Amino acid sequence: MTETNADNLDTYPPSAEFAAAANAHASLYERADTDHEGFWAEQAQRLHWHEPWSRVLDWDDAPFARWFVGGKLNVAYNCVDRHVLDGHGDQVAIHWEGEPGDSRDITYAELLAEVSRAANYLTELGLVAGDRVAIYMPMVPEAIVAMLASARLGLTHSVVFAGFSPTALRQRVDDAAAKLIITTDGQWRRGTAAPLKTAVDEAVAADGGAASVEHVLVVRRTGIEVPWTAGRDLWWDETVGQASAEHEAEAFDAEHPLFILYTSGTTGKPKGILHTSGGYLTQTSYTHNYVFDHKPGSDVYWCTADIGWVTGHSYIVYGPLSNRATQVVYEGTPNFPDEHRHWQIIEKYGVSIYYTAPTLVRTFMKWGREIPEAHKLSSLRLLGSVGEPINPEAWRWYREVIGGNKTPIVDTWWQTETGSIMISPLPGVTAAKPGAAMRPLPGISAKVVDEEGKPVELGETEANGYLVLDKPWPSMLRGIWGDPERYRDTYWARYGMRGWYFAGDGAKLDKDGDLWVLGRVDDVMNVSGHRISTAEVESALVGHSGVAEAAVVGATDATTGQGIVAFVILTAEAKDTGDDLVAELAAEVSREISPIARPREIHVVPELPKTRSGKIMRRLLRDVAEGRELGDTSTLVDPNVFEAIRARKA
Ligand code: WT7
Repeated sequence: MTETNADNLDTYPPSAEFAAAANAHASLYERADTDHEGFWAEQAQRLHWHEPWSRVLDWDDAPFARWFVGGKLNVAYNCVDRHVLDGHGDQVAIHWEGEPGDSRDITYAELLAEVSRAANYLTELGLVAGDRVAIYMPMVPEAIVAMLASARLGLTHSVVFAGFSPTALRQRVDDAAAKLIITTDGQWRRGTAAPLKTAVDEAVAADGGAASVEHVLVVRRTGIEVPWTAGRDLWWDETVGQASAEHEAEAFDAEHPLFILYTSGTTGKPKGILHTSGGYLTQTSYTHNYVFDHKPGSDVYWCTADIGWVTGHSYIVYGPLSNRATQVVYEGTPNFPDEHRHWQIIEKYGVSIYYTAPTLVRTFMKWGREIPEAHKLSSLRLLGSVGEPINPEAWRWYREVIGGNKTPIVDTWWQTETGSIMISPLPGVTAAKPGAAMRPLPGISAKVVDEEGKPVELGETEANGYLVLDKPWPSMLRGIWGDPERYRDTYWARYGMRGWYFAGDGAKLDKDGDLWVLGRVDDVMNVSGHRISTAEVESALVGHSGVAEAAVVGATDATTGQGIVAFVILTAEAKDTGDDLVAELAAEVSREISPIARPREIHVVPELPKTRSGKIMRRLLRDVAEGRELGDTSTLVDPNVFEAIRARKA
């Protein structure tokens, strides 16, 4: 849970100048309230439909929704071809900035040619609509081309963050039974070329793993040497690069699966969140237009996310491209070669809309204001935040130091599951409060309720409020890949017949009725805006031969939001070698999952606090990890275990 200022409600109304030119108007809320489906039907007109729909929403088989029933469209056509046909082929779609300093501008016409080549070659490989393609790539233009080419052919992509381990990649490839993996030889990380294709080889090893994979398509990025399996492996430049740049897009059903994206849940097994085409593109396009006040042809937009996460899918690829954005795509880290990098990029391209995560804002604060102050950032006219609650102090710093005391800030709440932004201020309309996500967007309906489903009182600060979404929305997940039961149980069972989607976040409403998201209420941690389950890290730890039992909690962290703190019991055979063992365990977690899951602290303890029914009391471990007085220990089998845990931590 984060610091909020719900009792100290300073507000930042939009300037008259901003409001006058804004895409959004207050009347949008009214329009959506009076006719929910009619409103979404209007928004869907933002897209080109090859065939119209016959029904806006089919919720008869709830919680499985169908939007724009019977409609047909091609997602890639909407993101690329349409703009070229409308005479904007020469507009830059992507200002790509490589980490080592190389760069490339790609116009919509060039993007169309590249996507067409890739679509032609994927067809030549025998892939047909409905097949799954895994994309395991750094932030290179070909990653976006690969996503769009898949969409164009009705292939369902599954992007796996290139920081994930071979084990994590294999798990995802197996679950989706992907036939093709698209990757790069290596990736640039702070000036060094790190191998990536080798991780694919490890995932697709001869021991039966990832048996569905027929081919591995490799983009040359770093030029490092790669192991090669003849017949299976193919170079992108020798194949896609040689294919025809003409390709006609075919229309697919509005509910055709567009992508699967894996995210952490409360168990060790990641959930394959399924998104489809028409509703997803409608809402990403709608939200990108209004929440970012995006003006095609004049704005330069930059979302700093990675395509490995949903933010990259919705606000680098589908939302912006469907709205004919000119955007920056940056390959590297914010501090390579030094901490000026983001500000230099903003200056170089005249970025006007900048969308990032609170953890990065806090990192910028730590680096010092003199760094951004050395740059001309006056092109910025709107700032966004996503991934975790933004604390008021960071919000104000962001607005003052980066936004020159004038830009609206949109604090956007949403999830992999929601597909698009759900709760956010509307720039030009909302008087934003630092730290509050404010109101559900027009067309979206949310409630904050208690355990029983009773709405919490306005201004009630002590209540444990849960955020629920009480109406279906176009970009909602259509399920968990291959696991309809888990879909029902995780999101829809909590409030039974009421048909509310349980988001897993705690929230409250201030006295004005504005909404504050407080953080996860389940066993999911949020580290630098990355969602990691405690169970996944625990299972990686017990995978080490020296660990008998492990319990993991997310502890408040000033920069990353939460930090991972692990408590482990060693096996009788294992020798506690102190720091060496702890370092080895941390490395094991990095290797098994990803460096982003590496615990901040690992404590070797003699026992874990358990209830009589054998449940680990995470709440108490969180108290220990955050150095707080212990909460109620009366249900513990042996309250003394804490003395030992505290002793080891010190
Ligand atoms: C979880 C979803 C949404 C794209 C990035 C993360 C937290 C996200 C906010 C916000 C407070 C936020 C929630 C949510 N979250 N945005 N503006 N304020 N919390 O997507 O990995 O699916 O994580 O991120 O806890 O449930 P994700």
